[in-house]
Amino acid sequence: MLRTTKVDKVNGKISVPGDKSISHRAIMIGSISKGKSKIQNFLMGDDCLSTINCFRKMGITIDIKENIVEVNGRGHYGLKEPEDILDAGNSGTTMRLMSGILSGQSFTSVITGDASLRKRPMDRIAIPLRKMGAQIEGRQGGRLAPLIIKGVDLNGIKYISPVSSAQVKSAVLLAGLYAQGETTVYESIKSRDHTERMLKYFGGNLEETSEFVTVKPSDLTGQNVHIPGDISSAAFFIAAAAAMPGSELIIENVGINPTRDGIIAVLKDMGAKIDIEDIKDNGGETVGNIRIIGSKLHGTTITADIIPRLIDEIPILAVIAAVADGITTITGAEELKVKESNRISTMVTEMKKLGIEVKELEDGMEIKGNNKITGATVESYGDHRIAMSMAIAGLFSEDTVTINGSECINVSFPNFEKILKEIVK
Ligand code: S3P
Repeated sequence: MLRTTKVDKVNGKISVPGDKSISHRAIMIGSISKGKSKIQNFLMGDDCLSTINCFRKMGITIDIKENIVEVNGRGHYGLKEPEDILDAGNSGTTMRLMSGILSGQSFTSVITGDASLRKRPMDRIAIPLRKMGAQIEGRQGGRLAPLIIKGVDLNGIKYISPVSSAQVKSAVLLAGLYAQGETTVYESIKSRDHTERMLKYFGGNLEETSEFVTVKPSDLTGQNVHIPGDISSAAFFIAAAAAMPGSELIIENVGINPTRDGIIAVLKDMGAKIDIEDIKDNGGETVGNIRIIGSKLHGTTITADIIPRLIDEIPILAVIAAVADGITTITGAEELKVKESNRISTMVTEMKKLGIEVKELEDGMEIKGNNKITGATVESYGDHRIAMSMAIAGLFSEDTVTINGSECINVSFPNFEKILKEIVK
């Protein structure tokens, strides 16, 4: 159980664990490449460990030494039929991206996950993969996991994705590596592009514009990868520091990929003082040190066009909006309903317990500013980002905020509590 309470400021120089999205991709792409990949700063969170376990079950030798992971890739068709059900745990990225790879294998596999993941929509990947010829069955007419995936010869498609989702785009692109001809995915608003960047880095045959990406079957070769710090983990501390006058925080080596940096744009729009220093290229991804000086923030309007760039940061932005001046409105964020919990309703319910005036909208929420946050016991719903958002809310509360079920934080940020203690000292 995690408890937090009011602090005047946050200070220090920290780094956060490796990026979750990029860690998953390094294991998956490393496994289907030829030769060894050495992955540094890998995120040892439960989600990424689920991905490792799945690929081990398909015959890939993966050695973990401290936070370096060595993947002994066996090439395009080197995966073996798993003897048991593959378990993606709580991880949507594992299940959805891996389904793309499994669709093109010469064996049948079954993939399941925990109670939360078994409720999350899988038709969003099954529909395009079936258009490529994949044979995927699941519960409720093929919509829900467990999924049974019979590997077949795939054909390339042109797919206009109805949602801006990197998990959908990546599942189709990874299947495209096994398909006859070209596979193209169009998105109206570009989602995170880590799969594209990593495929190119491993020698993949890829063509991109701002609207679409095309992949052709490619021979991939193992590489050394240094995973940038996860901006979605850094976000909790960036937001806390930005909204607390007197704070000064530096977070080193954070990934600042332009498809992920919406949190910085929105906080700046709310008046935050944030600078990015020492920007450098890191195997196709950009990293930098983020310096934050605390100040009083004001409310803002967040609309559909920026949502994919900050989808995982909306819970923490909602908390920060509660202590800023004026109203903040978030719309166009219906995708929040299909995350590890329904993050619109879970955030609204738990923020109300803290005395925050917030209104639930069909596709977002409206938060009144300058709330006096009161102590309470809140629930995580088994959702890591809800638990961490509530912990940061506690830093603005006169009385203690107790977060039930905070162990789910291990999914993405195992040392969250340790770093939190360091910066509030
Ligand atoms: C992810 C994509 C996003 C994000 C998730 C990780 C990824 O999901 O919310 O935490 O690694 O591709 P969607 O693609 O469903 O938006």
